[in-house]
Amino acid sequence: MSKKPYYITTPIYYPSTKLHIGNTYTTVAADAISRFKRLTGYDVMFLTGTDEHGQKIQRVAEEKGITPKEHVDEIVAGIKDLWSMMNISYDKFIRTTDDYHMKAVQDIFKKLYDQGDIYKSSYEGWYCTPCESFWTETQLVNSNCPDCGRPVERSKEEAYFFKMSKYADKLIQYIEEHPDFIQPESRKNEMLNNFLRPGLQDLCVSRTSFNWGIPVTFDESHVIYVWIDALSNYITALGYGNDDTELYKKFWPADVHLIGKDILRFHTIYWPIMLMALGLPLPKQVFGHGWLLVDGGKMSKSKGNVVDPVTLVNSFGVDPVRYYLLREIPFGSDGLFNNEIFIKKINSDLCNDLGNLLSRTVAMVEKYFGGVIPAQSVKEGIDDELINLALETPKKVEESINELKIPEALEAIFDLIGRANKYIDETTPWILAKDEAKKDRLGTVLYNLSEALRFVSILISSFLPDTAKKINEQIATTNVEWDSLKEFNGTVVGTKVVKGDNLFPRIDVDAKLAELEALKEAESKSSKREIIPIKEEITIDDFSKIDLRVVKVIACEPVKGAKKLLKLKVDLGNEERQVVSGIAKDYKPEELVGKNVVLVANLKPVKLRGELSQGMILAASTDDDSILKVVDPGELPTGSVVR
Ligand code: ME8
Ligand code: MG
Repeated sequence: MSKKPYYITTPIYYPSTKLHIGNTYTTVAADAISRFKRLTGYDVMFLTGTDEHGQKIQRVAEEKGITPKEHVDEIVAGIKDLWSMMNISYDKFIRTTDDYHMKAVQDIFKKLYDQGDIYKSSYEGWYCTPCESFWTETQLVNSNCPDCGRPVERSKEEAYFFKMSKYADKLIQYIEEHPDFIQPESRKNEMLNNFLRPGLQDLCVSRTSFNWGIPVTFDESHVIYVWIDALSNYITALGYGNDDTELYKKFWPADVHLIGKDILRFHTIYWPIMLMALGLPLPKQVFGHGWLLVDGGKMSKSKGNVVDPVTLVNSFGVDPVRYYLLREIPFGSDGLFNNEIFIKKINSDLCNDLGNLLSRTVAMVEKYFGGVIPAQSVKEGIDDELINLALETPKKVEESINELKIPEALEAIFDLIGRANKYIDETTPWILAKDEAKKDRLGTVLYNLSEALRFVSILISSFLPDTAKKINEQIATTNVEWDSLKEFNGTVVGTKVVKGDNLFPRIDVDAKLAELEALKEAESKSSKREIIPIKEEITIDDFSKIDLRVVKVIACEPVKGAKKLLKLKVDLGNEERQVVSGIAKDYKPEELVGKNVVLVANLKPVKLRGELSQGMILAASTDDDSILKVVDPGELPTGSVVR
């Protein structure tokens, strides 16, 4: 019988910065699901890869004095090393610089153009010349470029657009008729209410301001901009748009695209619309997971709070890292990465519960039966509890995985582990061993424990593949088929166990935390920050044109419909003004009231989101805006001049 196909994807990652534990999370989750599907009889296609085009990559390569391709080759090699370190069993790794992908994307673009879904127009927005980037009004921070903080100007560029609105109604209907399409449920409503129902804008799909991208075949000054290139990977990887479409026919539509919530809109609106325009079926599900947070917020490079998976794997081994990600992060919501919780989890779950179950069982088989697994001959009622739970667990795990509830799947497996440990306490083999007449009963107990471990090993193999292998070595089993879990008798009597090392040696929490802290210190010293070059020289006269004043914030509230903006009322000493400032991410309105801040008092007033802004509040931020602080002039009288 031919196996049922199952197609799962991760996002394709930007090879711009080193991947951190947050990116690793998606891929480990996809790997666990893929392995589980293979185990339960599916023919799996697990796709991951890299999204290699764009201006940022071009610019970094230029700074390094190498070609963009040389630059991405280097980073992609590192990403592949990381995946092999994490035991990621992907079936295909796509790079958007692969020839077959580029050709297929060009054909897709041409087809959409020929059928009138893509048209040429011009793109108008706020342009940052040094960054060569367009920004929309809402992306600007304090009316400046969100990347470099420099002033932007109104500008126009010729570009191609995708008629998104044409398919909006059809998509709304599709989403309503397919409740599983967008998961978790809460994200579906966000897409419908915030984006689709208010009306879709056409999407800009080409650029002329840089050339590290896939050229538009019929208009060579344009490159295809980001999302048509990136999203198409899910079908071009299967051969769509090329000669051999065997895989496409077998695996499309995808069973699930696993992605982070920041790119949900692209996957549940733009991507389905692209597919509709191409006349192709839509993926069965898009699952948007939450953020991996560290103490103090979202992980980001310039905050210096990035958790490097390589450091963790080197210190703890790969399975503890996989375990923490899969067990502790509620699938679909944000989760916390914290070293202390991580280490304590390893000690309690992996070392105490799983590790001890194995070492105690194997040690007892050695001690009481010379290492040979005894027969199950004298049963007692207490055995049924363990056996019944073992027999029920595969179904629980399978159901959880089918709903992508990975922590619940692991919980079920650890319930079985806990039950088996309790069974040892209840049956007290060391007491049975004292009585020769109870030898057969003792044998039965140890058989049941060995068999329970075989269940655990098979069940856990998708999540902790190395651990499963080590368990199998020690209980000397090769019977690792899923179907063998239908009956509690797959352990072969007479097999000789092989005692090995502890699966997870106990960790000294304080010592290890100190070690990690020291490592982080060393890393942050060695990693150089990107320095923004000093701007063109000005004279004191130029500077004196800027009127900076100390002002007191007397009222503050959010701007409706603009997540980033706060509306402040400030006192200049002799007048009050309203100022709109892009600091809502970093400050709560009440934190600012009563504070002195510095105002650019003679800046031409503008309207931001319909609100008048008479001036600008000075603030300093890291390159990526992850930390932003309003400049604090201390306790000077209101109206003081800053010079
Ligand atoms: O967005 N916790 O690539 P990317 C959890 N190339 N997930 C996180 C995270 C965190 N702290 N930080 C990032 C792109 N991610 C595009 C995708 S797909 C056709 C194109 C996740 O490298 C993020 O949500 O910026 C995203 O799903 C993935 O990492 C890749 O991000
Ligand atoms: Mg991103």
